[in-house]
Amino acid sequence: MRLNINNISEMYKNGEKISAITAYDFTFASLADSVGFPIILVGDSLGQVALGYDSTVPVTMSDMLIHVKSVVRGAKRSLIIADMPFMSYQSDISDAISNAGRLIKEGGAQSVKLEGGEKIANTVAKIVDCGIPVMGHIGLTPQSVNQLGGYKVQGKSEKEKEKLIADAKAIESAGAYSIVLELIKSDLAEEITKEISIPTIGIGSGPNCSGQIQVIHDVLGLSLGESYKHSRQYLDLRKSVPEALKQYLKDSNSGDFPSSKESF
Ligand code: KIV
Repeated sequence: MRLNINNISEMYKNGEKISAITAYDFTFASLADSVGFPIILVGDSLGQVALGYDSTVPVTMSDMLIHVKSVVRGAKRSLIIADMPFMSYQSDISDAISNAGRLIKEGGAQSVKLEGGEKIANTVAKIVDCGIPVMGHIGLTPQSVNQLGGYKVQGKSEKEKEKLIADAKAIESAGAYSIVLELIKSDLAEEITKEISIPTIGIGSGPNCSGQIQVIHDVLGLSLGESYKHSRQYLDLRKSVPEALKQYLKDSNSGDFPSSKESF
């Protein structure tokens, strides 16, 4: 049976770590589901890793819906959270509600995630009022990369620190059931985790969050470019996949493949 937000709250109350991973398609969703991740996030990071953009900014509702549907078909047990893409919730509350509704109703996700703190708390509250569970996301909010001026660690100054604590509290008060803390200094992430009563899911925010989330491409060594300090790579698929493909290309070109065993 599929997990729901009550199961996540129970894990939190029992002091269990809440481990989450992203997935963007049927195959990887079924693999993540099969090993027992309670949460799969269809992140708008698909903009970079699946669609080849240089940020999450160009991702559209249509992009999200295709990937969310695919993940929902692949994962039978995990709670599926769909990211609301840039400008699908910022300009107008009724747009935000209808786009959140599409991700649940058409996409089949059980929850949505929105980036931002106090400024979007009212939008979060209205979506929650419609019966749609919301995960918040503060700290580094990649949809605002053009305003933040890059992907930097957040919460360094006293002012930033106070703002992040206020943001977390505002999102909790708006009715979110959990919140992602991205690239927040470990001691501040720990403080936020203690200050609020919903689970914090960290990425690059140290060990004292209620759980962790990672982008699946980083974990499997599929991401382009250098690896991130906040990720741990468990496989090197950027090396082993081309090796396998090269061997198939060679065998096919030489006539070694298919053999009589592989023919009818
Ligand atoms: O889009 C995404 O993958 C995310 C996670 C990094 C939390 O928002």
